[in-house]
Amino acid sequence: MTKTVLKGAITSVAILAGAGMALAEGNLVINGDLELTTEAPAPSHIEGLTTVYSGWVFRDSFTQAMEMDDFDNPGMLFVDAGEDMWNEPAGTSGKACADCHGDASESMAGVRAVYPKWNEAAGEVRTLEMQINACRTENQGAEALKYGKGDIVSLEAYISMQSRGMPMNVAIDGPVADVWAQGKQMYYTRTGQLELSCASCHEENYGNLIRAETLSQGQTNGFPVYRIKDSVLTSAAGRFVGCVRDTKAETYKIDSSDFVALELYVASRGNGLSVEGVSVRN
Ligand code: HEC
Ligand code: HEC
Repeated sequence: MTKTVLKGAITSVAILAGAGMALAEGNLVINGDLELTTEAPAPSHIEGLTTVYSGWVFRDSFTQAMEMDDFDNPGMLFVDAGEDMWNEPAGTSGKACADCHGDASESMAGVRAVYPKWNEAAGEVRTLEMQINACRTENQGAEALKYGKGDIVSLEAYISMQSRGMPMNVAIDGPVADVWAQGKQMYYTRTGQLELSCASCHEENYGNLIRAETLSQGQTNGFPVYRIKDSVLTSAAGRFVGCVRDTKAETYKIDSSDFVALELYVASRGNGLSVEGVSVRN
């Protein structure tokens, strides 16, 4: 791994190079039988990496173990809440998600692995959160939910679980090509007082320590993520807000088209890694 000294006005952020990458011994096996892919050759559209790793690889053994058993994974409580919402009528239509989509284990299998994705009818790239809200407002006659955490992420968790173990496989060409390119540009643009880009931390310094935390590659295959730190289930967009804030830059609005582009690009960096359903991180 290359150890790069960060350029720019870094005062409050010290990244300790040479801390060494605490690569996990052993694999991510859930409930003793479902083995997930946490390390894969980097997709050819990613120039700065040769191997991609799930964030799980960089966590301590205690955090890793919590994700290896559904009884220990606090994210599973949110999955249960999401399942209840799936079956509960909502809005003026009086319809539940299940009334149109039936058994999620059939209708939603594979869905999480290909999002964000182009929606032909709407003529836009949609994150899974956007699609859930579109179904709520247009198909249920219910209010849109707030992005980042809460009910929408519980629904997302339930949907994601139906793809657990499937490889991320987000499309980057065709109608999404421009949005993908926008996301890529954002990823490498240094912003904020600290003049850091996503790549400064997650491409050039993964495996190194920052404020006593080991930097991962910032992959999104594990989302939604249960964060032990604040006991909340978070979506990828919710996580990005925190990372942007850490660079002391203006935070993009969580429901902005900028974040859709960034989410598409970051998801594509993890093509080949398993959807983890709901993961556990610090
Ligand atoms: C009145 C019927 C209806 C209801 C109720 C409904 N949806 Fe949908 N949903 C649709 C239709 C139609 C589509 C577009 C189908 C397609 O992909 O061609 C769709 C698409 C989706 C997709 C994208 C699937 C894919 O393959 O990309 C997701 C995810 C989804 N709905 C989730 C939900 C959730 C969660 C709820 C409840 C909060 C819900 N839907 C409620 C009709 C409905
Ligand atoms: C100052 C360094 C820094 C910058 C810049 C930064 N992050 Fe992070 N990011 C972190 C730290 C620390 C964590 C928590 C440990 C980890 O997973 O790396 C994290 C975690 C993440 C995670 C969660 C990974 C997982 O598996 O749970 C994602 C996704 C992420 N960052 C995306 C981004 C994106 C996108 C950008 C650019 C907008 C960005 N980060 C910029 C420091 C940074």
